[in-house]
Amino acid sequence: MALNDFDLVLFGGSGDLSMRKLLPAMYARHVANDLPPGARIICVGRHEWTREEFLANVDKDSKPHIKSKIDERWDSFAERILYVSLNATDVKTYGPLVDTMRKDDTLTRVFYLATPAHLFAKICDNLKEAGLVTPNSRVVLEKPLGRDLASAKQINAEVGKVFAESQIYRIDHYLGKETVQNLLALRFGNILFEPLWRREWISDVQITIAEKIGVGNRLGYYDNSGALRDMLQNHLLQLLCIVAMEPPTSIAPDAVRDAKLQVLRSLKKFTPTTLAQNIVRGQYRAGHVDGQPVPSYRDEPDAPQHSHTETFVALKAEIDTWRWAGVPFYLRTGKRMADRLAEIVVRFKPIPHSIFNQPTSSFQPNSLVIRLQPDEGLSLNLMAKTPGDSMRLKQAELELDFNEQFKTPRMEAYERLLLDVLRGQLTLFMRGDELEAAWEWVEPILDHWEQADSAPVPYTSGTWGPASSSALIGRDGLQWREEALPED
Ligand code: BG6
Repeated sequence: MALNDFDLVLFGGSGDLSMRKLLPAMYARHVANDLPPGARIICVGRHEWTREEFLANVDKDSKPHIKSKIDERWDSFAERILYVSLNATDVKTYGPLVDTMRKDDTLTRVFYLATPAHLFAKICDNLKEAGLVTPNSRVVLEKPLGRDLASAKQINAEVGKVFAESQIYRIDHYLGKETVQNLLALRFGNILFEPLWRREWISDVQITIAEKIGVGNRLGYYDNSGALRDMLQNHLLQLLCIVAMEPPTSIAPDAVRDAKLQVLRSLKKFTPTTLAQNIVRGQYRAGHVDGQPVPSYRDEPDAPQHSHTETFVALKAEIDTWRWAGVPFYLRTGKRMADRLAEIVVRFKPIPHSIFNQPTSSFQPNSLVIRLQPDEGLSLNLMAKTPGDSMRLKQAELELDFNEQFKTPRMEAYERLLLDVLRGQLTLFMRGDELEAAWEWVEPILDHWEQADSAPVPYTSGTWGPASSSALIGRDGLQWREEALPED
């Protein structure tokens, strides 16, 4: 679908997200000829830079993050970029932005708030007061969207005073990843899995997002957040929703979002007892990642020596519905882990009886592995006969590698999501009630940690997290996928 001309206003325009993700994403779409002639990117920041000074920063801070070739098309891209200096919290300084924006009400206006969440309400108020909000305006909210249920509700309420729900785009960049959308295709574009996609046939589901990187230069943000708020409340729960939701009636935004909301509302609430049993919270210590020594979290620059911030969390969730009752969903994420990967493993139940001269216990249950990164693909693990004159069965993989299968160039998550915002397509964005439902479920965990004033358990960098994470799943007689991989 061709885009209308637009003004994309990036608050936090000189910040990390703009430089690392948003401007590179827009350049990629420029190079792909997706941007109409009248598309402009207005970067907003506090620094009193001229446009040339700002572009010099873009050269320095953004260009290194561009994956494609930077050629003469950069110049025509740079022509689209403008810079406006203002104090986002002071409406009296919004004049230059008002003057810069085109007055034509039929143009699409997108206000992308790549700023701390506590500024969202004020910026929205100021946009309204400055007369910048037209019926064709949209606002994009970057995570973290609050730090608990109360702050999320407040953001929803305040932003909702200025923008209608249909104008609000809450970003979870995991929803922009190709494989997440492919999961929708797998579930609802095929007849094969849906009949099996329930408690009668599925034994458990594991969702892992593991990173090798540490906290990097984001300690100020991260130490106040931690893995639960940074990754689990949003990315992992969104993946869980897509795996577990009932078939929506269509791909229309509210059909999909209603289905996801139902999952979030059906998550079994934790009690003090189940909290203690079903959640592991860890923090990395010094170790080796890719053979290189890395420091302990508490020795990262500016880290508080006694920080209780978790860099790892693993938990067992359950969904109280007819489809899923009794099926454990193990969610896990961590920094400084042994590998970088994001994957969903759906394990089916074991066969009921062996007709072969092999005990049933030697049959690996079937599993479907949906890989989001580093590569994108699906593998279905099946038992197959090994060649030879005896009837011996062994696990084999049916592999679908999306890069091999589809040679078309991939789109980064932010490219896809920015295009969707510009097209007015809300399906891959969270609705306000989803956000609140996710916080509502997570909040008892946060409260418990705070009240108990308990410390996370240490784990060595370059491992798969604390031993208690293996014990969590081991209690149910199961293993994390990397622990269960056959050796050879
Ligand atoms: C972000 C988190 O939302 O996702 C980061 O704030 C994390 O801490 C990042 O590193 C991971 O995203 P991806 O796409 O690299 O897996």
